[in-house]
Amino acid sequence: MQKKITVVGAGNVGATVAQRLAEKELGDIVLIDILQGVPEGKGLDLLESGPVCGYDSLVTGTQRYEDTAGSDLVVITAGLPRKPGMTRDDLLLKNAAILKDVTVKVVKNSPECILIVVSNPLDAMCAVAMKESGFPRHRVIGMAGVLDSARFRTFIAQELKVSVENTHAFVLGGHGDTMVPLPRYSTVAGIPITELMSQEQIDRLVKRTRDGGGEIVQLLGSGSAFYAPSAAAAEMVEAILKDKKKVLPCAVRLEGEYGISGLFVGVPVKLGARGMEEIIQINLTTDEKSALQRSAKAVQDLVDVLKKNAYL
Ligand code: LAC
Repeated sequence: MQKKITVVGAGNVGATVAQRLAEKELGDIVLIDILQGVPEGKGLDLLESGPVCGYDSLVTGTQRYEDTAGSDLVVITAGLPRKPGMTRDDLLLKNAAILKDVTVKVVKNSPECILIVVSNPLDAMCAVAMKESGFPRHRVIGMAGVLDSARFRTFIAQELKVSVENTHAFVLGGHGDTMVPLPRYSTVAGIPITELMSQEQIDRLVKRTRDGGGEIVQLLGSGSAFYAPSAAAAEMVEAILKDKKKVLPCAVRLEGEYGISGLFVGVPVKLGARGMEEIIQINLTTDEKSALQRSAKAVQDLVDVLKKNAYL
């Protein structure tokens, strides 16, 4: 039987996630949004791409959560995107209200699903989804690290004029200005970039990675990135639905790992059929540890605001 995947939010990110999932034939896809006609129209348009692209995934659009019932996996992209000059954190309370509403409806209809959260500010939205769902932590996973690492990999490949396929990168921490790209664990064909570039080059690429989302927001003028974010979310969906045991940086709730408790923070995890199957702990230098702590503190500050406003 085909897997059933729901994508919440039929905006740029959601619709492009649906497209990528259909093209990978990962299951039947339900695209849901509050906007009348938009999910239906985009869903039908995607369905009609099937004969040309060669997929048999059934794509449907709806406003009714009953149509999402029994989903194996739900990707939540709902929420407002950033405008130029805004940080991801500026979206906090508006998107928390949306996440709360969406999660309750999703979980009522798909109590066994795995949730992948994409909405910003990512780590804080994961906490809202976790609370509202009541799910165990292995079934609530945030997409950020794969995207941030993809940006870092792009810049590494451009700088060294090598194939992106030769690059691996790790970005830890929250999906915000304090994210922690790890040059020591970022490699070209297995060679750490610290062996291949000067500190000045690395610092420049790290900065561009940190500012990567904002760079696109500035260029677009309205809305935020969606091609790379949707590709990153689709990679996570594929790893889970195909039980690939893929190791990817994702936002998960830490319970003592990396010295952090009760917070969603990006760390390397193994993704398989059960969702987040393992948190992989790597050794960090003192500097890396304190950068991760700083990043966790930034997530904690958002969580505190959510607590004050009764979202957590
Ligand atoms: C980005 C937004 C989507 O990083 O968080 O592009």
